[in-house]
Amino acid sequence: MVAAVTVEAPEASADRSDRRPQPLAVRPEFDLPDDVAYLNCAFMGPMPTGAVHAGIQGLGRKARPWTIAPDDFTVPVDLLRDCFARLLGVPGDVDGVAITPSVSYGVSTAARNLHFDDGADVVVMAKQFPSDVYGWEKAALRHGGRLRTVEAPADHDWTSAVLAEIDAAGSSLGLVAVPPCHWIDGGVVDLVAVSEAARAAGAAVAVDVCQWLGAAPFDVEAVKPDFVVGATYKWLCGPYSLGFLWAGPRWRDGEPIEHGWTARANSHCLACLADYTADYQPGARRYDVGEVANFALVPAALAATELVASWDPQRTAAHARHLTDRVAEGAAALGLHTAPAALRSPHIVGVRLGPEVDAEALAPALADRGVHVSVRGDALRVSAHGFNDRSDVERLLGALAELLGRTP
Ligand SMILES: Cc1ncc(COP(=O)(O)O)c(C=O)c1O
Repeated sequence: MVAAVTVEAPEASADRSDRRPQPLAVRPEFDLPDDVAYLNCAFMGPMPTGAVHAGIQGLGRKARPWTIAPDDFTVPVDLLRDCFARLLGVPGDVDGVAITPSVSYGVSTAARNLHFDDGADVVVMAKQFPSDVYGWEKAALRHGGRLRTVEAPADHDWTSAVLAEIDAAGSSLGLVAVPPCHWIDGGVVDLVAVSEAARAAGAAVAVDVCQWLGAAPFDVEAVKPDFVVGATYKWLCGPYSLGFLWAGPRWRDGEPIEHGWTARANSHCLACLADYTADYQPGARRYDVGEVANFALVPAALAATELVASWDPQRTAAHARHLTDRVAEGAAALGLHTAPAALRSPHIVGVRLGPEVDAEALAPALADRGVHVSVRGDALRVSAHGFNDRSDVERLLGALAELLGRTP
């Protein structure tokens, strides 16, 4: 049960010097007050101050449109593609990246272009994010197949459960569309193993990295997916309404879901736009959202993703792991359950609250104490990024102990 919420919020730690040294010290890049423990990047990443300024500056250019040149429609967008490609482990593969407004847009584009046999099924995880499930379900039904939903394994071993479903699907498998970790509690999936099994069964692989990219390394070369979709507003700390679709080399000559002018060949020649052409810009650019050169969002996204990439995903993951491990340890001391470390992602940990706790009441009570996390299902979802530190976690654990009326 959540205890009364009338207790005074704990004093903000004015002196943060008691923190253990962390491998990353990037908090000053963000507008994060010392008395805010923002452990909620899985909901929405804070935008770095530099990215906010880049966005404002970009918006300001609309006040002076004569400063906007033809190159401004392509050069910053290609820089952004380049950054996504690097984070995906395919540096230089600028042609593989389309810019989208959302994960659902990327899934819809991929679903429009994947051709699987009639009656072929799509494997997803139980309670997977709706922007994946809705799009892939439509695609499965269109081909006379269905979704095969992998139930949450009691032992938290999603990889074995997904592999078993691939095995059970046999020749009716058309696509495996699972993420590197579950958005609700960070349960990990070994995508290299899953993708290998899917490909051996003749199926395609699509991956939603929205809850992963920026927080941990991803390796397209190792996973060998057909499509990867993502958004910038969580772990890449970018703006809302800007994402990407990476298309494997054999999927770069497909059909976009809309037909904007910038996606067509020669679109840099503004004077020749009415010389209509059936040809496209190289590679996955054909799938770009219309008005892709958003003068506010693109510079903001570029500044944010470049900053997050500069931390090095390996280091970021190690930093986050240190913090989520402490969350798990502290939660266990309060009698709460988390998945074993090897089966959860470095950056998201789901703390199971048990039926006696009013989960809905807990998140606002924590927020009153300067601790920001999410409740998803019966789990308190705690997420840690490069800007978090040990004092954020201690603030969370202290507030939890107080609200639950338990002592570690
Ligand atoms: C795994 C995952 N994918 C995608 C999204 C967002 O999807 P969209 O960009 O379609 O709104 C979220 C948001 O929480 C998510 O957790």
